[in-house]
Amino acid sequence: MASICLATAALTLFLARCLAGIGPVIDLGYNLQQAASITTLENTYDIYQFYDIRYAASTTGANRFKAPQAPSQNRTTIQRGGQHWACPQANQSWNVILEPFLQQYNFGRGKTVFERSDFPPALPPNTTIGARTTEDCLFLDLYVPKNVLDGMNSGRPGVPVLVQIVGGGYASGTKDLDPTGLFLRDREQRGDGLIVSLYLAVQWSKLTTHGQIVSINYRLGAFGFLAGNNFVRDGGVANAGLLDQRFALQWVQRHICKFGGDPKNVTVIGESAGGGSIMYQITAYGGARGSAPFQKALLQSPGVEPQKNDAQRNTDYANFLKLLGVSNLAQARELPFATVYAANVRQIYDAPYGHFVYGPVVVGTFAPDLPAKLLAKGKFHRGLDIMVGHNADEVRGCSYELMLSETVLTYKSKGISFTSPFIQNTASFKQDVASWLPARVATQNFLDFVADHMYPEVFDGSQGYTDQIGRTAKALTQVKVFNTTGNLRMQRDDVANERCNIWQRVI
Ligand SMILES: *[C@@H]1O[C@H](CO)[C@@H](O)[C@H](O)[C@H]1NC(C)=O
Ligand SMILES: *[C@@H]1O[C@H](CO)[C@@H](O)[C@H](O)[C@H]1NC(C)=O
Ligand SMILES: *[C@@H]1O[C@H](CO)[C@@H](O)[C@H](O)[C@H]1NC(C)=O
Ligand SMILES: *[C@@H]1O[C@H](CO)[C@@H](O)[C@H](O)[C@H]1NC(C)=O
Ligand SMILES: *[C@@H]1O[C@H](CO)[C@@H](O)[C@H](O)[C@H]1NC(C)=O
Repeated sequence: MASICLATAALTLFLARCLAGIGPVIDLGYNLQQAASITTLENTYDIYQFYDIRYAASTTGANRFKAPQAPSQNRTTIQRGGQHWACPQANQSWNVILEPFLQQYNFGRGKTVFERSDFPPALPPNTTIGARTTEDCLFLDLYVPKNVLDGMNSGRPGVPVLVQIVGGGYASGTKDLDPTGLFLRDREQRGDGLIVSLYLAVQWSKLTTHGQIVSINYRLGAFGFLAGNNFVRDGGVANAGLLDQRFALQWVQRHICKFGGDPKNVTVIGESAGGGSIMYQITAYGGARGSAPFQKALLQSPGVEPQKNDAQRNTDYANFLKLLGVSNLAQARELPFATVYAANVRQIYDAPYGHFVYGPVVVGTFAPDLPAKLLAKGKFHRGLDIMVGHNADEVRGCSYELMLSETVLTYKSKGISFTSPFIQNTASFKQDVASWLPARVATQNFLDFVADHMYPEVFDGSQGYTDQIGRTAKALTQVKVFNTTGNLRMQRDDVANERCNIWQRVI
């Protein structure tokens, strides 16, 4: 590895002398890459911004719904990026309700019963494709301090690398990132690293690392997470979005040294779906295929949901084909991007409250079981340093605005991001809980047990909730989280453990 890096560095210097542009040209083999821009942080600290580095081939046409492929060679033009490419995004219609619901439930002087008329009407789904959106979206951004790139040939060791995987319910999220806070904090710590970004990270802006930062796009929604045996039979690849992330992490292992980064000092960071993705990366292949393409992980509220069964996934797939107006995947691959884009937008728009339709699935060799179960069985990548935590009331949630406001946060923000406001009785409680469970688990008997014994209709506070919405939020928190983090030694109270253990057994 070291000798390859030295050879590349020499070429880099040579090209830097010959070509105009911003900073050195980095030879990736398949591409020649140059920074899109350079920015000065607080008048002291220059950062090269390598935007839109291609890490995989286009996923259009025949590559649609397939695993990521190596990019083909293009050395005729120097790549400078700057288009800020985004993978196709989708938005759930319940997003419109979310914010006013959080406000009214948390700060509405005890309002706990809601009607549709309490919220703005849903807007029609927006199927217009934005200028930054492209189906050929497997790009990453890389932020490198100038002194790191300049000092690369002086024999100094590589700097640590932070790779960010974006959250957003596996349906939305881009690699956009303002790394300023990360770098400034890192500088305080006398660090010197890089950042790769898969995610927009307002929450992180007060943390940091003075290394490199990398942020990666991965396919979302139907583009990245269609699944089910019918889909696979038709030649689709499940968990394509997770495979994209893996591909990007392998890109970092292979190429980050060319930017002065140390491939043996890579930390992945992610929140929500970003953290859930990291759970799947830690347990990928049951830990069986060599070492992980990173050494450390920071997981914030990892979002790993119970699994649908094949019949449910086949239904999602059939509904998607119906929206496309075709009957199989071969035909879907021939459709123009705009058609597939619109179907993804519409399907996710209609997701039941709190749901996103698509996400990682347990299938095949990459994800042989739920991460929590693989952790319990010892089937995961060993030797990683991991820090994990959950926001208190994660599923009860706190809105974006609340998160940004420290004043409001000190109220111990009490939200309900994934809980429907329309739960008013035990029947709708059961119905909502059932929507989160695999069909084999959601039997009438079991739902009765959940409602009568696990989360009884007792609102005196002794059960950890005081109304139907709080009751539902509590159940969803524990269904969705159950032992995901428990097995990573998160502390919980006894009641939570008891309930979580039941979920762990049945799901
Ligand atoms: C090579 O890259 C340039 C710049 O991105 C692009 O305009 C050109 O179409 C690419 N060539 C091929 C053959 O892909
Ligand atoms: C999703 O919808 C919400 C509420 O209408 C809006 O604030 C948000 O910007 C939308 N996001 C995207 C990616 O369209
Ligand atoms: C629909 O999305 C496009 C692309 O993001 C955006 O430019 C446009 O403003 C949106 N339209 C509405 C009505 O929100
Ligand atoms: C990674 O980088 C950090 C910060 O420079 C350093 O303290 C640590 O020893 C490095 N770890 C390895 C394994 O090189
Ligand atoms: C779930 O996590 C708790 C807390 O770490 C642990 O005590 C329990 O054994 C776990 N349950 C299972 C089934 O793994």
